[in-house]
Amino acid sequence: MMKLAQSLRINKVLNGLSILETYDDGMSVLKNTRLLVRPAVAADVPAVHNLIQWHAQKGRMILRGFDELYADLRSFMVAEDNGELVGCASVHLFWSDLAELKCVAVNETQQGRGIGRKVVDACHADLRRLGIERSFALTGATTFFEKLGYRVVAKESLPRFIWGECVRCPSFPVCNEEALVFDLTKN
Ligand SMILES: CC(C)(COP(=O)(O)OP(=O)(O)OC[C@H]1O[C@@H](n2cnc3c(N)ncnc32)[C@H](O)[C@@H]1OP(=O)(O)O)[C@@H](O)C(=O)NCCC(=O)NCCS
Repeated sequence: MMKLAQSLRINKVLNGLSILETYDDGMSVLKNTRLLVRPAVAADVPAVHNLIQWHAQKGRMILRGFDELYADLRSFMVAEDNGELVGCASVHLFWSDLAELKCVAVNETQQGRGIGRKVVDACHADLRRLGIERSFALTGATTFFEKLGYRVVAKESLPRFIWGECVRCPSFPVCNEEALVFDLTKN
């Protein structure tokens, strides 16, 4: 490793994401240097669909169709690692003091790297930019959201109009999800 480092000849930044290291012996290694979290674009939709479908088939989240993903594209943040889409999250605005964090998903092989936290943080930043005061999640991933500062509340404490999507939930009508809220003005 030390020998390689000493013989390093070229460091070239590619696409702002990776570094191509070329050594004297001609070997080149494409090294990932950072994860990119950004607003989604239309070209991301097939990969977002795959990611959500993968988790939906395991009963963890609601399946989203291509039409819905394109319609909601502006509300999605995605995480990209070396050109591969590895995570996503979305928001649904209900009122000036209420938005839902939804479609939070990370590729199974990439979990535990902080990607989920980063895509949710990006959604929070966008909600703050819009002046939204509070977000909530209806989820089976309670510990994950608690780690991000969400707190469990009684489901009845949230307004009834947020429950419209429940009929699409794999668990419906037996709800195994918890409601959690997050104060965007304090955190
Ligand atoms: C939930 C999910 C998005 C977490 O993504 P992730 O990238 O693995 O999460 P992170 O690495 O950012 O974890 C952030 C924190 O939550 C914790 N955490 C994440 N998943 C956890 C789990 N299943 N149980 C306990 N803690 C968990 C991490 O340990 C980490 O804690 P730390 O900050 O103290 O180290 C991912 O597991 C997933 O895609 N699950 C399936 C889909 C789903 O259930 N989505 C939520 C419903 S919308």
